[in-house]
Amino acid sequence: MSNAKLILEGKEYELPVVVGTEGEIAIDITKLRAQTGAITLDSGYGNTGSCKSAICFINGEKGILHYRGYPIEDLAENCSFPEVAYLVIYGDLPNKEQLEKFESDLRRHSLIREDMKKFYEGYPTAAHPMAVLSAMIGSLSTYYPDGDGEDLDLNIVRLLAKAPTIAAYAYKKMIGQPFMYPRNDLNYSENFLYMMFAVPTEEYQISPVFADALNLLLILHADHEQNCSTSTVRMVGSSQANLFSAISAGVGALWGPLHGGANQRVLEMLEMIRADGGNYKKYVDMAKDKNSGFRLMGFGHRVYKNYDPRARILKNMAEKVLAEVGKEDPLLEIAKKLEEVALSDEYFVERKLYPNVDFYSGIMYRAMGIPVNMFTVMFALGRIAGWIAHFKELREDPTARIYRPRQIYVGETNRKYVPLDQR
Ligand code: CMC
Repeated sequence: MSNAKLILEGKEYELPVVVGTEGEIAIDITKLRAQTGAITLDSGYGNTGSCKSAICFINGEKGILHYRGYPIEDLAENCSFPEVAYLVIYGDLPNKEQLEKFESDLRRHSLIREDMKKFYEGYPTAAHPMAVLSAMIGSLSTYYPDGDGEDLDLNIVRLLAKAPTIAAYAYKKMIGQPFMYPRNDLNYSENFLYMMFAVPTEEYQISPVFADALNLLLILHADHEQNCSTSTVRMVGSSQANLFSAISAGVGALWGPLHGGANQRVLEMLEMIRADGGNYKKYVDMAKDKNSGFRLMGFGHRVYKNYDPRARILKNMAEKVLAEVGKEDPLLEIAKKLEEVALSDEYFVERKLYPNVDFYSGIMYRAMGIPVNMFTVMFALGRIAGWIAHFKELREDPTARIYRPRQIYVGETNRKYVPLDQR
């Protein structure tokens, strides 16, 4: 493809064009400032490619999501989460031996240091589990110094193995129950459910439907290219900070309601609609009114301008999970109606606002007994795989530079200091 041309103040510049393997086109502006003195302005980075990456491909117009070239639908149907995490992090699906070793490593590293358990004593009972997750992951760097190659691989396994333990302990602390140690005879998803819901005084039966649903949720959340939290991880990693610090920052970024925090907000919104007599149309109208400050949580996406493929997969699984608990959830009914109304409303159609992954995940978590303030933690447990993959890709890229965007300054210029008594 030929170069792009830019005319600035009457002068013409040639800018190279980069084409990705899926035909995505980018104008390479790496030398723009050096050549022209100008920078680009792209608030929210909606048109900015911050890197070349081989991990995840999204076509938001068509509703396509691939991890390492595999369609999400195939992976969701056939894989375990550790298999997908391996794929995302190392680039290829593991063979039988590689998967067995990876799963066995994940089991062997799932305990956290006994003295780390004491950290939980210091957190208030009301602490949000995302705050605890971020702090505990950051604290792992005090135990495991960071390195490249083998050290990094070991820290990757540690992080993936310990994250569910850290998250489940945050929940146990919140409800005042004793921590349940991980069990090596269980798989990744079963183990998490066990650590969350088992108590020492009685037998706990792990529901295979819940374990499958959790496995699916983790897979669907594993990566989503350069979203806010992943870009944060890459941003921190670009200074060559250690893995745990970068991922801890990613957890913080994910927490916000416009990102991973939306799944919690979806459920709160559905509850609010139910408490208000189930009048969902009123809330659709409110979402359309810019002065109301209200948005339909779980709708819209920066990248998807079509149905989020993850939401489609989850909608089916949500039905199965609800069948397992054997009761109708009025919130699911409200969610379905809300979706129906919004999808046929001109405002939403015009703006291509479809349900996103968070729309159905909350209903599933709720049915599984996971409390609302743990929802974003669940998102994080899946996304850790993608964060790690991006951290590793950046670390291993010899051309990577520290992330350092520019700005257009619009503040005051050259003011003179005025002494305190004259202001
Ligand atoms: N309800 C009502 N109107 C909306 C909504 C919504 N949920 N989302 C976007 N709009 C409108 C928005 O007001 C704007 O209208 P106009 O063009 O008239 O000004 C237009 O649609 C474009 O929205 P935007 O805010 O410019 O889009 P964005 O790409 O900056 O924001 C978003 C994307 C996901 C933050 C936004 O759609 C939103 O706030 N959704 C609700 C929160 C949510 O569900 N977040 C989860 C995202 S998926 C999980 C993840 O990957 O993090």
